[in-house]
Amino acid sequence: MTKKNNMAVEILSWYDANAREMPWRIPPLNSKMGTIPNPYYIWMSEVMLQQTTVAAVKEYFVKFITLWPTVDDMANAKDEDVMGAWAGLGYYARARNLLKCARVVKDQYGGKFPCNEKDLLSLPGIGPYTAAAIMSIAFNKKAIVLDGNIERVMSRIYAVQEPLPASKKDLWLLASDLTPENRCGDYAQSVMDLGATICTPRNPKCSICPWNYNCEGLIRGIADGLPNKTPKRTKPTRAGTAYVAIRNDKSILLERRSEKGLLGGMLGWPGSDWDNVPSNYTEPLKADWHTLNESVRHTFTHFHLELTIKIAFNVKGTPRVGKFITKENFKPNDLPTVMRKVWIEASKFLK
Ligand code: ADE
Repeated sequence: MTKKNNMAVEILSWYDANAREMPWRIPPLNSKMGTIPNPYYIWMSEVMLQQTTVAAVKEYFVKFITLWPTVDDMANAKDEDVMGAWAGLGYYARARNLLKCARVVKDQYGGKFPCNEKDLLSLPGIGPYTAAAIMSIAFNKKAIVLDGNIERVMSRIYAVQEPLPASKKDLWLLASDLTPENRCGDYAQSVMDLGATICTPRNPKCSICPWNYNCEGLIRGIADGLPNKTPKRTKPTRAGTAYVAIRNDKSILLERRSEKGLLGGMLGWPGSDWDNVPSNYTEPLKADWHTLNESVRHTFTHFHLELTIKIAFNVKGTPRVGKFITKENFKPNDLPTVMRKVWIEASKFLK
């Protein structure tokens, strides 16, 4: 047996004893006995896991499959219900694509996820990582799964010095070399678990790693400094203003953001662009606006945002944008996090 085959055997037996429990996962014992995962669950979990930790995803995953148990149910869901249920998970393009993808799977694939990478890649919101994860985990087919955790594991095993992201192609080839022909789903998940629990970014637990004898990074004493990374540019800070308008009956003015762009399709407060320029934004309606002392800070992938909050009570008249939502129908949890932070500040001024 080659060293490569041995490594797959070693990590799979480690996984048999140490697999993490996840609500979408078939445990290794059941998987070996032939239990097949639900591709809808695997797709849903992988889309949620694209930019979010397992810990944060679990609760949302259970909520989603409870509300929409099958891909047909998801395809038939109302856009605003799905966007509301996604609120707080971030990267809202994922929720829009989730719906689009479910509708394509229902309409063009008879409600069954395709079992080849080419068709999977043609679906909304499915890129190379997610297609490979679905192929291996849902369908137990060989596919090269490479996410940030697995890049770190490969960098260390092979002591790759070239910094990320330039090293991505090489890491893919190295990952490909280790990937076995059998137990493809369990293998993909075993490397994910190794990256998350043993081969961690800081203080990796090399002494209990099933691959420690084969780890070139450990042998050379450089494992925990890898992967090298090209430094990122520091994030700029942008600024904008959010308007919280409240009527006498406590109804609240909200606006659904356009489909394109950041927080696209989500509910939020009417407000200026986030472009730092002293804004010529026209208030959503004429009122006695007060600027709060406390602003809201929120960090997105590429910038920090500082939002000034303006609030007006007992407003009258028809707004230029948005819709008043009654107090009973207003669900702060359906707002994306930055908008929820605005509400937390504004609601301090309500009796
Ligand atoms: N990260 C992304 N996908 C994962 C999965 N299926 N299991 C564990 N961690 C993951």
